[in-house]
Amino acid sequence: MNADAPDPLDPSKGRAVRGMFASIAPRYDLLNRLLSLGLDQGWRRKMIARLPALQAGDRVLDLCTGTGDVAQALCAGLPDDVVVHAGDFCEAMVERAPEKTAEQSRPASFFVGDVLALPYPEATVKAITVAFGLRNVQDPAAGLVEMARVLASGGRLIVLEFSKPKTKLFNALFRLYVFGILPRVGRFLSGSSVDAYRYLPESVWAWAGPEVLARQMEAAGLTVLEQKPLLLGGVMLHVAERRG
Ligand SMILES: C[S@@+](CC[C@H](N)C(=O)[O-])C[C@H]1O[C@@H](n2cnc3c(N)ncnc32)[C@H](O)[C@@H]1O
Repeated sequence: MNADAPDPLDPSKGRAVRGMFASIAPRYDLLNRLLSLGLDQGWRRKMIARLPALQAGDRVLDLCTGTGDVAQALCAGLPDDVVVHAGDFCEAMVERAPEKTAEQSRPASFFVGDVLALPYPEATVKAITVAFGLRNVQDPAAGLVEMARVLASGGRLIVLEFSKPKTKLFNALFRLYVFGILPRVGRFLSGSSVDAYRYLPESVWAWAGPEVLARQMEAAGLTVLEQKPLLLGGVMLHVAERRG
């Protein structure tokens, strides 16, 4: 019997989301590779390719870092004099991350913390990445405001997130996969009593979508530079820049 997954639209879902990710943390990476059919790391690399030009001492922040896959790609791809920090509010997820960058010439610094209260002063971060995390934040619009607060003027926010494909045929196939197959495989392999892989498609379908996200970004003080569909729109890359 599976325990109830969080309600995707509940603004107080934070605790339930944290518990859900804690319950799937041991198998999270394996399930990511398997359920994305090996495509997820390529999407993260595309995100990193959108980073702005960085200088020595610039700070890059990966939020909702989970088990640290984006932080790992950042450490591998950026010059050693760029500072990489990464945080997540689920300790069971983020405690798996440090080993992924420990062997690199410049490891990332990981912290446990909430997107809604970032431990940084205003305008002190040059770029923020968020992969498959924003949809899970209790109040995504408030999260964007908090990210805009810590971003330096001209600093960049890059969000990778699932989306509902626009093409009818692919939308139908995608729905079949994410509602029909993914929850069954996820439940079986994750060993979790929380139905995280049912929450996943439900939260994607309840998610605001690119147009609303663009409006929320603009309202937070960001200028949207790009919204690029990947996987025929099943995944979207959103790039925005801090105004003024
Ligand atoms: C689907 S995972 C994505 C992890 C990683 N970015 C990746 O690409 O695999 C979503 C992560 O967002 C985190 N998260 C959700 N809401 C958060 C919040 N308000 N503050 C910090 N982390 C949050 C969860 O704990 C979880 O680890």
